[in-house]
Amino acid sequence: MNDIIKEINRLKKEKNAVIVAHNYQIDEVQDIADLVGDSFALSKFCANSNADVIVFCGVHFMAESAKIISPKKTVILPEKHAGCPMADMVTAEALKKKKVEHPGAAVVCYINSSAEVKAESDICCTSSNAVNVVNSLEQKDIIFVPDENLGSYIAEKLPHKNIILWNGYCITHHKIKKDDVLLAKEKHPEAILLVHPECRKEIVDLANFVGSTKQIIDYAATSDAKEFIIGTEMGIMHKLKMESPDKKFYLMSPGLICPNMKKTTLDSILHSLQTMTEKIELDEDVRIRARKSLDRMLSVE
Ligand code: 13P
Ligand code: SF4
Repeated sequence: MNDIIKEINRLKKEKNAVIVAHNYQIDEVQDIADLVGDSFALSKFCANSNADVIVFCGVHFMAESAKIISPKKTVILPEKHAGCPMADMVTAEALKKKKVEHPGAAVVCYINSSAEVKAESDICCTSSNAVNVVNSLEQKDIIFVPDENLGSYIAEKLPHKNIILWNGYCITHHKIKKDDVLLAKEKHPEAILLVHPECRKEIVDLANFVGSTKQIIDYAATSDAKEFIIGTEMGIMHKLKMESPDKKFYLMSPGLICPNMKKTTLDSILHSLQTMTEKIELDEDVRIRARKSLDRMLSVE
């Protein structure tokens, strides 16, 4: 074991810390994490963990969600500039205005949003439970922020709902175009297509399966198919290959990289444990209101 990993493990013990990593993190980071998962699995794990310190290898909204649920724990984001551009596409102020335009509507926020936006929402969702969450609401009119693609996917699955869309999108998933899919299918005619719901509708419409990163990994592991074209961020390839070593995976295009997810390294994790930075701090009023939308989501499953 190299010296950095040894020191990370020593500090983890000393500080009673756990390391969690999103499926898009670089391979070395995934390999030292106590749990690697999608946004939903990581939120649940943090809610149930007995650790004093959570080192969150992901992007800001994910670490913030852990802090909303676990205020007594020290939650650390090793790279303070690891943000999610989509989460920044909606602000609490803009959402408040939208609520005034649609007074009877319920507000559902994708977990890729700030604590302030969560505080203005009735319920939160992740890509793994979005359809169930929206379906659990009694209101027909639903303001859905910020991902327009996920919102459209929900609207198609739940035609009895009126989904009021926001124009946010993921800069990485939005890159995938129909021609990329057609080319990949031509190259790999036996492969089936698994995509994330953050992809454009024209991509989702061509997919054999649409799901969160964890759901894609699980689907590939249990499917009878042997070859898969993957329409999501490249970091997922590590776990796909680990869970299904006998199967073949083709990333839809080489540019499927989330630059923010790639910022965290073993060095930054070590530094974060040595200095206990960057700590996530939240305004308590915002945290309490944001927590309601996360708790409500966790009770839907
Ligand atoms: P998952 O919850 O599916 O892991 O997705 C999070 C995300 O940011 C996808 O871009
Ligand atoms: Fe945000 Fe897209 Fe990166 Fe996910 S992949 S963290 S949605 S920018």
